[in-house]
Amino acid sequence: MSRQQRAARHWAVIAAAGQGERMSAEQPKQYLSLCGRTLLEHTLRPFVECPALSGIVVVIASGDSRWSDLPVALDPRIRAVSGGAERMHSVLNGLNELAREAQATDWVLVHDAARPCIDRADLERLINSLEDDAVGGLLAVQVRDTLKRADRAGEHVMATVEREGLWAAQTPQMFRYELLHRALDGAVRTGLKVTDEAGAVEALGERPRLVSGSPRNIKVTLPEDLSLAEAILTAAPGGA
Ligand code: CTP
Ligand code: MG
Repeated sequence: MSRQQRAARHWAVIAAAGQGERMSAEQPKQYLSLCGRTLLEHTLRPFVECPALSGIVVVIASGDSRWSDLPVALDPRIRAVSGGAERMHSVLNGLNELAREAQATDWVLVHDAARPCIDRADLERLINSLEDDAVGGLLAVQVRDTLKRADRAGEHVMATVEREGLWAAQTPQMFRYELLHRALDGAVRTGLKVTDEAGAVEALGERPRLVSGSPRNIKVTLPEDLSLAEAILTAAPGGA
């Protein structure tokens, strides 16, 4: 089959180059222990077990001395590259690593290392839902709570925000390689602050598709999130 004809491949970029300041731990949160393994190993498990993926790029902080000690670092489909100052720079470094292998219409799934409760079903739903899409999309959950806008001090309610049509964005977010590279490269060059891939793609005028995610796919941000993540992992069908 010629290069042009082959079906779109799937790649993953795992953003694991943050310092985890809000966690206030002695090491970055991706290396904290959850149910006897590092958080990052839990995060990587469904990706490693996903046969649809041709390769996985783990973006680690420069000077990270822990990554190479993890057994999963030896997986033949995984490689590591150094991250940048902000998440968007780290993800762009990960995409650059794939520049020689990925074709323009290949898919890239970008995932936060800080979401260790992602499971195979989430990955498969995202991949299957977007198969025929030209752009891509993201896992997200409809907001259930009534939302309040606080005053500057964060002490009193200023208004109730209409919840209808609001979704909370998660990762993975999956986009066509060339489009995502162009979107993030443009955001970095113009200084546009984006906190997720969809934000960068939206800035190009595209409309990413919303794919229903699971409320279990939490982002570990604060110390109290660790015990919640442990409870979710322990209750999962495959166990922790
Ligand atoms: N991340 C990254 N490169 C950065 C910053 C963040 O790869 N320069 C990654 C983190 O490792 C994390 C994900 O992006 O998996 C989401 O970021 P966040 O939850 O904010 O993690 P941290 O930046 O590590 O935490 P904090 O903001 O509390 O310092
Ligand atoms: Mg951060």
